[in-house]
Amino acid sequence: MLSKRMLVYPVLCAALCWSCMSCGPERSSMTDIQVLRMPYLQTALADSMTVLWRTDAGTESGVRFRKKGALAWSEAEGVVRATNTSLIENEVTLVKLEPGARYEYEIFTDEGQLLPETSLGFRAPVAAGYSVFSFFAVGDIGEAVEGGGTPDKLGEALSSYVDSLNFGLLLGDIVYPEGKSEDYDNNLFRYFREVFPYVPVFTILGNHDWHEPEANYIKEWKLPGNEHYYSFDYGNAHFIALDSKNGDFYDYERQVAWLEEDLSRVAGTENWKIVFLHHNGRSCTYKDAYENVVSLYPIFEKHGVHLVLNGHAHTYERLNPMNGQGEVVREGEQKGFTSITVGSGGKLRGVGTDPKAFTPDPDNCRYPGLVAAYAHDWAFLKLDISGESLRGTAITTHDLKVVDRFEIRK
Ligand SMILES: [Fe+2]
Repeated sequence: MLSKRMLVYPVLCAALCWSCMSCGPERSSMTDIQVLRMPYLQTALADSMTVLWRTDAGTESGVRFRKKGALAWSEAEGVVRATNTSLIENEVTLVKLEPGARYEYEIFTDEGQLLPETSLGFRAPVAAGYSVFSFFAVGDIGEAVEGGGTPDKLGEALSSYVDSLNFGLLLGDIVYPEGKSEDYDNNLFRYFREVFPYVPVFTILGNHDWHEPEANYIKEWKLPGNEHYYSFDYGNAHFIALDSKNGDFYDYERQVAWLEEDLSRVAGTENWKIVFLHHNGRSCTYKDAYENVVSLYPIFEKHGVHLVLNGHAHTYERLNPMNGQGEVVREGEQKGFTSITVGSGGKLRGVGTDPKAFTPDPDNCRYPGLVAAYAHDWAFLKLDISGESLRGTAITTHDLKVVDRFEIRK
């Protein structure tokens, strides 16, 4: 049923499209069904990609997709389900994608094509072992503009990089104040309409997301494993997502045992090993070190983790490489792991009305010599892997200024 419609409606729409321009970006020309959450991309793994979006009605979902420049379309049917916010969730997984290829796609419901005037697209995951790709990382994002946050600026900034990003990591505290499903559209998704339909994201829980996550966070995202902590391979890198809950970690002992096992599994590979979690270990920001994060340092050292990304402190801070004891390593002696706080996604202020409160002060830090670079500004981190090199660029969201640049070599 859906399949026949999917073939017919695009032809009709192509003929009618000029007249759809006044329909606005959220309404289909063919149906009264409204898209209330733009498509967003998840689980960009192996040869697949999952597309999700939310509508006010509808009982069938489908996606037509093709490699850019190809003539023939493929079709995939999906599922619809009710959500806890009265919207309808549409979920379609696309498979057998060509590694690294750029695709365009269209979304359908039982009454026809949705968003016919919007050109949607993504880049399929690169092949295992492929060593050139880019991603972004940023946390502490989803406070609505009317609440004093600036996720709008982050969305705008990222939208100018979508063509050069394979995926993104959201480093927790994704939706304030309590990560409730009913706040996701207002505090987050509406600001990323030019980002999430094009760049898949992997997320982790922050303390603000940690209020009944099974009833909220886990219903909003599609993640690997148990969705609290998981790992995935992308190109020549292995990523590990952890759930640091309120700093005390979700199911700490089991999670740490899993972390050890997961890192042991990739011990023999030359892959980049990148950990992301919400809370900071050692830091010269206004946040103290979370001991449960510091307790992982020996594991990071033992298994050769290269990079640790976190949010939580609302600022940007890159540390000098540390060993398992949290000591800064001397150049040439040991490799160490580089730890970076990127909690600068949209809620810079600490308390009160001063947006620049809690400026880091490395000169008076309890860990002398720890900080390599910092910027107390709204910023995201762009990471470019090219073989043995990982280059990072911290870019401000309000004016796209580069505030840090670094390279890690394996
Ligand atoms: Fe936090």
